[in-house]
Amino acid sequence: MAGWLDALERRAKARAEAGLTRQLRPRSADDPVVDLAGNDYLGLARHPAVIAAAAKTLEAYGLGATASRLVRGSTDEHGALESDLADWLGAEQALVFSSGYLANLGTVRGLATRETLLVSDAYNHASLIDGCRISGAETAVAPHASPAAVAALLDARAPGRPAVVVTESVFSVDGDLAPLADLFAVTSARGAVLLVDDAHAAGVLGPHGSGGVSAAGLAGRPDVVVTATLSKALGGAGGVVAGPAAFIRHLVDTGRTFIYDTAPPPAVIAGVRAALGVTQAADDRRALLRARAEQAANRLCSAGFPAAVPPAGVLSVMAPGPEAAVAWAAACRDRGVAVGCFRPPSTPDGTSRLRLTLNAGVSDADFARALDVIVECAP
Ligand SMILES: Cc1ncc(COP(=O)(O)O)c(C=O)c1O
Repeated sequence: MAGWLDALERRAKARAEAGLTRQLRPRSADDPVVDLAGNDYLGLARHPAVIAAAAKTLEAYGLGATASRLVRGSTDEHGALESDLADWLGAEQALVFSSGYLANLGTVRGLATRETLLVSDAYNHASLIDGCRISGAETAVAPHASPAAVAALLDARAPGRPAVVVTESVFSVDGDLAPLADLFAVTSARGAVLLVDDAHAAGVLGPHGSGGVSAAGLAGRPDVVVTATLSKALGGAGGVVAGPAAFIRHLVDTGRTFIYDTAPPPAVIAGVRAALGVTQAADDRRALLRARAEQAANRLCSAGFPAAVPPAGVLSVMAPGPEAAVAWAAACRDRGVAVGCFRPPSTPDGTSRLRLTLNAGVSDADFARALDVIVECAP
């Protein structure tokens, strides 16, 4: 075997010995499992209005966008969604990307110059970490959710130079909230920009589901930039950045993950726009998520698992180790319940856990049964 393939084989063996092999499991269109693994918080991926809007636009435009919007033209669908997203998120303007990952890469890079100090929360998502890396700017990793540590880093390393503080609003693995108001007090006092990834908060928190930044009263501030994905509560695919018009202009002119990437398909954009309409009116679904957050924490606590009521839709339960986490998730799956299984390097602190993402589209009976199954399958 060629040398490089031998080397890959050795690395695969090491991953297997550490219990860190990943498995692609088949999924059918009518997969009967109760889904607490996906991020379809409001149950909109299959909403009839969403499917109808996407199908109509699929007929009109065909499958793909065929090129970037700068090369092939910007459809009414893209423009209308951006306008709706900007209104919803309370920002001056918005720009969509073909994924949340690419929105984060492009945004972090777009906010940084060679002189900038980036201060990135230790628990940030891979897309924010990679954005810091490709920006080429100096990056300081701040202890998790600590405005005091962020302030100390800015004071020590950023006097007289531009700085950007990078955080999620709802952290994707543990589901806890960033102290956004306190972080903003720190950044605004020092002339720094605050970048917040609202991926797990958009649709779930804030008035009309307008997200964590909006819930913290920070929407529309000129020194706050928000990113989000269109793939979670909005049930589709794509990403968005919302902020001052001058920053969006900067991204259109210079953002490599916008310029050199084929635009998200018009049909998906139309489906997401329909989902956004449903989302804004879906206070009942958000109330159900809150009730389920409490129900899940109570059920797990009464079975002896330490679980606090999650502030949004993500609840993590510790597993003794990576193999135990995999076995636990597999046992749940065998009994018809899909849950996320998170192990290093997907967890920020080297531990392993099950991640439950709440889903308002699941029936009450299925949800209660799923909690029983998770408890009964525990290692
Ligand atoms: C916090 C966070 N940001 C960004 C992303 C990336 O979004 P997308 O899946 O649309 O690329 C994810 C997960 O998918 C996420 O959890």
